[in-house]
Amino acid sequence: MVFVMREKIEELLQQIANLSSNNEKEIESIRLSLLGKKGEITKLFEEFRTVSPELKKEFGQKLNILKNTAIQKIEELKANINKSATNTKSQTDTSMPADTLSLGSRHPVSIARQEIVNIFRKFGYEVAEGPEIEDDYHVFEALNFPANHPARDMQDTFFVSNNIINPLLLRTHTSSVQVRAMESMPLPMRIICPGRVFRNEAISARAHCIFHQVEGLYIDKNVSFADLKQAILVFAREMFGEDTQIRFRPSYFPFTEPSAEVDVSCNICKGKGCNICKGTGWLEIMGCGMVDPNVLEASNIDSKTYSGFAFGMGVERIAMLKWQVNDLRHYFENDLRFLKEFNTNHSV
Ligand code: PHE
Repeated sequence: MVFVMREKIEELLQQIANLSSNNEKEIESIRLSLLGKKGEITKLFEEFRTVSPELKKEFGQKLNILKNTAIQKIEELKANINKSATNTKSQTDTSMPADTLSLGSRHPVSIARQEIVNIFRKFGYEVAEGPEIEDDYHVFEALNFPANHPARDMQDTFFVSNNIINPLLLRTHTSSVQVRAMESMPLPMRIICPGRVFRNEAISARAHCIFHQVEGLYIDKNVSFADLKQAILVFAREMFGEDTQIRFRPSYFPFTEPSAEVDVSCNICKGKGCNICKGTGWLEIMGCGMVDPNVLEASNIDSKTYSGFAFGMGVERIAMLKWQVNDLRHYFENDLRFLKEFNTNHSV
C-alpha cells in the first residue's frame, strides 16, 4: 500500500509539472480532479490515515509538498490566462477608438506674409532677404537718415555693438534689404522684402518690439507716383476685396519724397464707420513714396536716369485687419485656441 502511494505521489508530481491550459473552465476541472472532494490528492490524504506511525512523517511531508505544488501550479495557470487575455485585447480589439491626431497649422502671420508676397510675385516682384542684425549704414545712413534723426536713438533701436562709426543693431525695418539689393542687383528691379524687424517699444494691443514687415521697391526709367498708386490699388483689392478703395495722405520718410501713408476703405463696415475703423471708414495699411534721389545716389544709381517707388507694411497689421483681430499680442502668445482658428486649408 505504501509502495503504491509513493508511486502515485511521484506520478502526480510529474503530471502537475506538465499541466498546461489557457482555459478557465479546464483549469477549474483540473483543480477539482486534484484537490476537490473526490480529487486525487484529497484521496491520498484520506489514505494517509492508514499509514503506519513510523512512516507518517515521511508521507506527511511528501503529501504537503504535492498539495502545495498543485495549488501553486493552478494559480500559475490562472495568472497566465489573465495576462494573455489583456494582451490579445490590446492587440486585436479593432473596435477601440483611434487616438485623434491633431494636425498643426500655419501661423496666421506666415499665412498673411505669404499672401502679400504672392500678390506681388504675380506682378513680377522677386523676394529678397537680408540679415536681421544689420549695420547702421544699411538701416539708416544709406536711407538718408540725418545723423541725429530720432529713429537712430537708443529708445527706438536695439544696438548690438557700441561701435561709434557704424554700430551693429537689430534692423528696425526691412528697407535695409532694399539698400543691399540696390547695391548688388541689375536694373530695372522689382523686389519684395519680407522679414522680422525689431523696435524698442512697449508691448501693447497695437505695438510689439518684434514684428514683421513686407517692403517693396521698384526702380526703372520713368517710374512715377501714378505707377505707385496703381500697384497699391491692385494689391489692396487682391488682399481685402474687389470693391476696396484706397486713399493717400501726405507723410514723411527720410528715404522717400514725396511720401504718403495709405488707407484702405474699412472692409468691415464698407466705409460707413465702425469700431474697427474708429468711425472713420478708413484703415491705415502702409507707408510709401518715391525713392529719394539721395538714396539712389548712395547706392550708385543715377537718379537722373532712374526713379523708383517704395512701400512698406506691417504683416501683423494687415493680418489684424484681414481677420478682425483687435489685439496684436494674440499673434505672439501662441495660444492654441487662437491658432486653431486658422486651421483651415489656406491655399497659399
Ligand atoms: N520703412 C518704413 C517703416 O518701417 C516703411 C516704408 C517703406 C515707408 C518704404 C515708405 C517707403 O515704417
